[in-house]
Amino acid sequence: MSDTVTSRLAGFHKLPMEERLARIGQMFRLTEAELEHLRGESALDLTVANQMIENAVGTFSLPLGLGLNLNVNGRDYLVPMAVEEPSVVAAVSFASKIVREAGGFTAEADESMMIGQVQVSNYGDPGLASEKILEAKEQILALANSFHPAMVARGGGARDVEVRLLPAPEGPRGEPLLIVHLLIDAQEAMGANLINTMAEGVAPLIEQLTGGRVYLRILSNLADKRLARATCRIPLPLLADFGLPGEVIAEGIAQASRFAEADPYRAATHNKGVMNGIDAVAIATGQDWRSIEAGAHAFACRKGQYRPLSTWYLEEGHLVGRIELPLALGLVGGPIKIHPGAQVALKLMRATSVRELSMVFAAVGLAQNFAALRALGSVGIQKGHMAMHARSVAVTAGARGGDVEKVANLLVKAGHVKVEKAREILANLPPETPAIATLTNG
Ligand code: MEV
Repeated sequence: MSDTVTSRLAGFHKLPMEERLARIGQMFRLTEAELEHLRGESALDLTVANQMIENAVGTFSLPLGLGLNLNVNGRDYLVPMAVEEPSVVAAVSFASKIVREAGGFTAEADESMMIGQVQVSNYGDPGLASEKILEAKEQILALANSFHPAMVARGGGARDVEVRLLPAPEGPRGEPLLIVHLLIDAQEAMGANLINTMAEGVAPLIEQLTGGRVYLRILSNLADKRLARATCRIPLPLLADFGLPGEVIAEGIAQASRFAEADPYRAATHNKGVMNGIDAVAIATGQDWRSIEAGAHAFACRKGQYRPLSTWYLEEGHLVGRIELPLALGLVGGPIKIHPGAQVALKLMRATSVRELSMVFAAVGLAQNFAALRALGSVGIQKGHMAMHARSVAVTAGARGGDVEKVANLLVKAGHVKVEKAREILANLPPETPAIATLTNG
């Protein structure tokens, strides 16, 4: 299948939805049932929803779009994105198109090493307690691994033990907090259940070793041993747009990066843009996006100030972009197993390992960020947003089919994107003639 998959689908956005689905169905050899899951008609039935959470009363839908043009490490990816915000899917597709002309994204990801935390108190002497824990490292690891022999058989499981002493001057006697870290390779899983089971499982042994009392036993979402990185390097002429030369656009992007590095107020918005892309693909593919968000923002603060997850600079006639963030993703377990919509989305992603998936996520974040900064550093984003907004205003005013685009265009032209204006334009439109959409693969 991989030979027939391309993310470069020129004219895809102009096709009627059924034709887009047919095209994707053909490319990925999807069954009728899988196509229905993509349409969302049967993505999550009520029985399954009722098994997933408590007090279920229904399911909740979001638009699902495909980010196009993405190429990471020489491989094409169509990116399923579940998101309510206009422009997000278009931005990833647009940015990826420019980057693919520049040779695509290069990405890498660490192995799936997660951290389980065990909080110990009343342990007596901190140095002695730490020593006892570290001396018993092999015993602790063996006990942790005994709770998940299948994971160990797959090459994963608990790998190391670390002890951290954290200042806690306000605590009783001012004794430091003693935190044990279990480093656990979760392989193809996100790993939350595995890690929590292991952390809880070793707690009695740690109490026995230290004579202390264990309180919390839980994974850390700051998965900083499970980072993914993506980069791109774009020749300046490829950036020319809005009647501006590439140098000017690139300078605007580099200035935006400087701003975010210096100022947490800007960095928060910069990173929100990054997460626009990452969250959308995380939701579509059944990932724990709260954990990804928590990890990303904690990582952004690791140097004592909240900073951007991605940076941009000029180098030898190129604009260079880099992103690095923790990505605790899973290809197995959790909702992925039971949510048929997420399964089809993962089939489209065709990542053969969770590391590959993380690389694609990182590239999506960088692409999303690039698109935002490109507009922000030059003409501003309102122009592009207005065009998208005009479409929903046209729909609200009652436009359907080909009329939506026509009304939206006229609204933007009039510079007055309001429902009353859209109704007026709609009332004056000539009756619609059926459009014949064509798809080129250019
Ligand atoms: C909007 O959802 C995201 C942006 O604010 C990101 C940014 O400012 O970089 C456009």
